[in-house]
Amino acid sequence: MHAVLVPVYLLLVTPITGSWWAAGSLVVMDPYQICKKTRRLKGKLGDICRNEPALLKQIANGVAMGQKECQYQFRYRRWNCTTTRRSMRKVLLRDTRETGFVNAITAAGVTFAITKACTMGDLVECSCDKNMKKMKKLKKGEKMKNLKNVPVPEGDWEWGGCGDNINFGIRKSRDFMDTRYKKRSDMKTLVKLHNYAAGRLAIKNHMRPECKCHGLSGSCTLRTCWRKMPSFREVGNRLKERFDGAAKVIAGNDGHSFIPEGETIKPPGKVDLVYSEESPKFCTPNSTLGSLGTQGRLCNATSLGEEGCDILCCGRGYNTKDIVEEKNCFCKFHWCCEVKCQTCKVKRTVSTCL
Ligand SMILES: *[C@@H]1O[C@H](CO)[C@@H](O)[C@H](O)[C@H]1NC(C)=O
Ligand SMILES: *[C@@H]1O[C@H](CO)[C@@H](O)[C@H](O)[C@H]1NC(C)=O
Ligand SMILES: *[C@@H]1O[C@H](CO)[C@@H](O)[C@H](O)[C@H]1NC(C)=O
Repeated sequence: MHAVLVPVYLLLVTPITGSWWAAGSLVVMDPYQICKKTRRLKGKLGDICRNEPALLKQIANGVAMGQKECQYQFRYRRWNCTTTRRSMRKVLLRDTRETGFVNAITAAGVTFAITKACTMGDLVECSCDKNMKKMKKLKKGEKMKNLKNVPVPEGDWEWGGCGDNINFGIRKSRDFMDTRYKKRSDMKTLVKLHNYAAGRLAIKNHMRPECKCHGLSGSCTLRTCWRKMPSFREVGNRLKERFDGAAKVIAGNDGHSFIPEGETIKPPGKVDLVYSEESPKFCTPNSTLGSLGTQGRLCNATSLGEEGCDILCCGRGYNTKDIVEEKNCFCKFHWCCEVKCQTCKVKRTVSTCL
């Protein structure tokens, strides 16, 4: 964690609800902007905007987490989840796989950040999940609900400790993100709400037990266990897999639902991502589509995958050159407590798309 210095004049001219840092960086969804527009609205969203500033801050944190994870997951793809406004805005206006992924990871990020804040005691309106205590104790070998592959801890243990309050996170994330769309049933909205929910399930369906030993000198005669969220990287990996297997859907006849395109395809489940428009190739710049093109992108000349020059450069070819980088080397630890390094020059070959 590093501190950020804010010039005093900025603090003075910025209204409390507006966040000076969020204004520039939260391109996918800026909760402060949403609140500005919905100031007069009643309901749960208005409630959060007016009365829950700490929660609003966690929502902003969650959006930022989602953006960062999206960029990690797409770092080698033609569309790299850049938050350059002219690109991301356009991608969000459409209804492609990419749109679906961004929506899912955003809902997941918001849920994750709120839930984590509950566990840390940063929000007055919630606390750890204590409901698990009411759950029956599982027998050895029995699987925990929603946790098919992780066996329940062996031996004697009971629910306790401070569990991640995922249901609170999900509820608040819905209150903020979904209630705005409650009265709409157009295709894009239905798809968006589905992908929001799928993003949240990528956390909720993969909660796992974590345990702590009690008893004399770590004898572990008694353990308490609680439910913990997966890491956000795991959530991102899972949603990236769902992106790869996303299902294309078309509007259903009743006007309030969607159905999979093509009759034989099995309908997408709750955890699957859906989309209704084909993605552009993102090879060349096109402002209508939010494509920046891949010219100048770093690529891997020997890989056949999506980071390989063949695919990333769309067959246009690439430049290869040797660059010399300075790196820390021969690092030595000096008592106490300093590490001193020399700088070495390292040659590296890089390829960039034409
Ligand atoms: C951008 O994409 C749109 C939609 O596919 C297409 O109609 C348009 O011709 C493209 N523009 C350029 C400059 O390629
Ligand atoms: C993402 O793509 C854009 C446009 O192709 C490029 O300018 C940018 O440097 C890329 N970002 C990263 C981190 O590779
Ligand atoms: C490029 O791809 C090859 C083959 O997948 C891999 O072995 C190599 O480590 C990659 N190079 C870089 C710089 O990522």
